[in-house]
Order: sequence, then structure tokens, then C-alpha cells
Amino acid sequence: MRVSVIGLGYVGLPTAAMLAARGHEVFGCDVNPEVVAAVNAATPHFAEPDLDMLLEAAVTTGRLSAATTPREAEAHLLAVPTPLAPDRRADLSFLEAAVESLLPLLKPGDLVVVESTVPVGTTERLAARIGAARPDLALPRRGLPSPRGALRIAHCPERVLPGAMLRELASNDRIVGGISEDCAEAAAALYEGFVSGGIHRTDARTAEFAKLAENAYRDVNIAFANELSAIAERAGVDVWRAIALANRHPRVDILRPGPGVGGHCIAVDPWFLAEAAPEEAPLIRTARAVNDGKPARVAARVLALSARFRTPRIACYGLSYKPDVDDLRESPALEVVERVARAGGAEVLVVEPYLQALPARLAALPGLRLAEEAEAREAADIVVFLVAHRMFRRLPAGLFAEKAVVDAAGVLVG
Ligand SMILES: NC(=O)c1ccc[n+]([C@@H]2O[C@H](COP(=O)([O-])OP(=O)(O)OC[C@H]3O[C@@H](n4cnc5c(N)ncnc54)[C@H](O)[C@@H]3O)[C@@H](O)[C@H]2O)c1
Repeated sequence: MRVSVIGLGYVGLPTAAMLAARGHEVFGCDVNPEVVAAVNAATPHFAEPDLDMLLEAAVTTGRLSAATTPREAEAHLLAVPTPLAPDRRADLSFLEAAVESLLPLLKPGDLVVVESTVPVGTTERLAARIGAARPDLALPRRGLPSPRGALRIAHCPERVLPGAMLRELASNDRIVGGISEDCAEAAAALYEGFVSGGIHRTDARTAEFAKLAENAYRDVNIAFANELSAIAERAGVDVWRAIALANRHPRVDILRPGPGVGGHCIAVDPWFLAEAAPEEAPLIRTARAVNDGKPARVAARVLALSARFRTPRIACYGLSYKPDVDDLRESPALEVVERVARAGGAEVLVVEPYLQALPARLAALPGLRLAEEAEAREAADIVVFLVAHRMFRRLPAGLFAEKAVVDAAGVLVG
């Protein structure tokens, strides 16, 4: 089958390479010409284990090629960004633009799958937009069998873990939500070709809701852990030890606190649920506030320690939003470092093995630079752990015995 994947980022590129590995003829499309050039040169434009090998095989066998405009295919997967607008509503402009670019290419029987995370009802609205622009095409109807030759339109949310994407793309269960049952069936048939996990058919609205519920669940539970860490700090209790003990209860599983919540998903998607019914979502909105407030709390702790030194040297370990990736989107670590540097009066050494240069947001700040781990450690008065990268967790805790330590990521607790 010819499959077109629109948006070749963290989700689209591994999916495109995986589909190519399963024998499909895959056309990747991305509006960013640098991404297109990198894909055609078989070079991943972000770090993800084993993606380089899969991409190399897909491109050299001619099964995957990329361009800045979409091409005709039998299945079209949309994996473009759905960020938060300043008013905390979903910014669907990328998705709408992707659908517009697809309109002239659609033909009877094509499958259109929205993989991007979206507010409930979005897939139906996009289907209506397609129907308005292409009255010549039959559309699926909610709850009814589709007319002959109708388009198949579905939402199949992605739930991969960056850092383990290829494994999870194949092994995770997938939710496949069709506008109608035959849409879910058509989408399920495509995913069954590369997913060994279960494929759960439902309607598009339920699929959209389930994906948002997953991320709101994570956010609320992380907020609980973060709230515990703030209370423990006041109470003079080691939160990590206390949580480890509480988790010995057979029905308790408290998550790990951290410097906040980042990334493109958990910090964003709960708002898509809350926007639909703000009055009904106090818990989800409070969790967002707790997690968004955490970087300021961590920075305040670091600055309180800094007051003990004339010109403190502060080593900040990690900038990415989660361990073992180079992704800085919505990273709370970035916010902590920025707050500490902006306070001034300190030398800030950033240790981030996944970066060769500081991001623009930090590069312009005085008194802050990227440093090797050993250099930063030797120079530091204060050590701040912000990301539990595996290489940090391997460092013996004894190396930091003489330092003032703020371990916001639980690096030294194992
Ligand atoms: N990253 C994750 O771990 C993850 C996990 C689950 C779900 N998601 C969801 O998947 C979607 C995509 O996320 P991502 O992390 O892959 O984003 P990304 O920013 O890494 O990649 C998106 C790509 O789409 C391209 N693009 C934007 N508009 C386009 C258009 N009109 N036509 C073609 N290409 C276009 C961009 O240039 C970019 O390369 C989002 O809705 C996100 O919430 C992401």
C-alpha cells in the first residue's frame, strides 16, 4: 500500500520508517525542508535509539522518500504538532493546514488517520471540512455503514515513549477510533501490519478522550508526587524515602516527584480536556498549576542555598524534559536553569550530554555555559540534579558528598 505520513517529527518519522520496513511504499511530507533533506539523506534529525538503522534501510531500499508537499496514496497519516495556544486552547492550525494540503489528493476509499493528539470532536470536524471541500467524495457517517467508495477517517492516538519509540511503536496497544465502524476496521488493518500489541476499535470521540485521559492521569499523579515533595521539604522529611516506604503498600504506587512536567504531551494535553468543560475539571487544572509551579520552587531552593556563598558556582545536571533524550520542549529543567541564571551573582555550569550547544533561550544569559560533567562537578559549590539521565544515575553518590545538593530528579536516590 502507498502510505503518506504528514509531519516527520518524533511521531511521524519513526512511524514512516516502521511502515517502510513492513513493505509499504511510504511518502513522508514535512513543511520543514531541513527535515525533508535529513530524511532523504537517511539521517534522523533527533536522537532516538535504533532509528538511524531503520531509516537507513527504509531510504536505501527506496521504500521511504520525503518531500515538502504530500503525494497521492491510499492511506494518509497526520502527525503534525498540536501545541497549546496562548489562551490554553489547542492550536489546531498545523493540523488544519495539513488537511488543506491533502484535499486535492484524496480519492474514493482513501484512509485518513489523525495521529496527532486532539480535543474531543476534532476528527469529526476535520471530516466535515473534507466533506465541504470535496463534495465529490462520499464521507463516512457516524454510527452508520459507509457508502460505497467512501473515505475512511479515524483517530489513532500515539502513546510512544521517547527513547523507546521503536519498541513501543510495535508493542504498545493501540486505540483505533473511526468516524464509523468500517473506518476503525480500515485503520486497524493498517496498524495490524506492524503492531504486535492489541488493537482496540472504538469511535473517534472516545479515542480522542481516552488519549487525553491517559496524559491527564499522568499529570495529576505527578502533581500529587510534586505536592508531597513540597510538603516533605517543609516537614524536614526525605520525600524519596517516604514515597519508597509508602509504595510498599500493596495498593499504593506514588510516582516520582521532579522539577516539573515538560514535553509536548503531558504538560499540554490535559488542557485539551479542561477546555471542553473547565467547570468540571478543577482537579486537572490544579494539577497543571502544581506542576507548572514546580520549577520556580526548585529555583528558589537553589537560590536560598546560593546565599551561603560569595560567588556560588552552580552545576546544573540536565536540560531535557525527561531522561535520556535531547528533547527540550516545555522542559522544566530549562526553566529552573534560566531562573537561577537570571537571578545573577553566580556562575552556572550546565551539564547536558545530549547537547553540543546551549539553546538560544539560555545562550544569551551571562555567567552561564555548557560544561563537561567532571569539570562542572569539580568546580561546583552547589549541584542541582534536574534530569535523571542514565549517565548521571551511574555516578557514585560519594562524588557529591562535599557539595550542597538539590536533587530534584532523584538521581542520587537510585
Ligand atoms: N513526541 C511524542 O512523544 C508524542 C507522543 C504521543 C503523541 N504525540 C502527538 O503527536 C503529534 C506530533 O508530535 P511530534 O512530537 O511528532 O511533533 P514534532 O514537532 O516533532 O513533529 C511535527 C512535524 O510536523 C511538521 N509539520 C508542521 N506542520 C506541517 C504541515 N502542515 N504539513 C507537513 N508537516 C508539518 C513539522 O515541521 C514537524 O517536523 C502531536 O499532536 C503530539 O501531541 C507526540
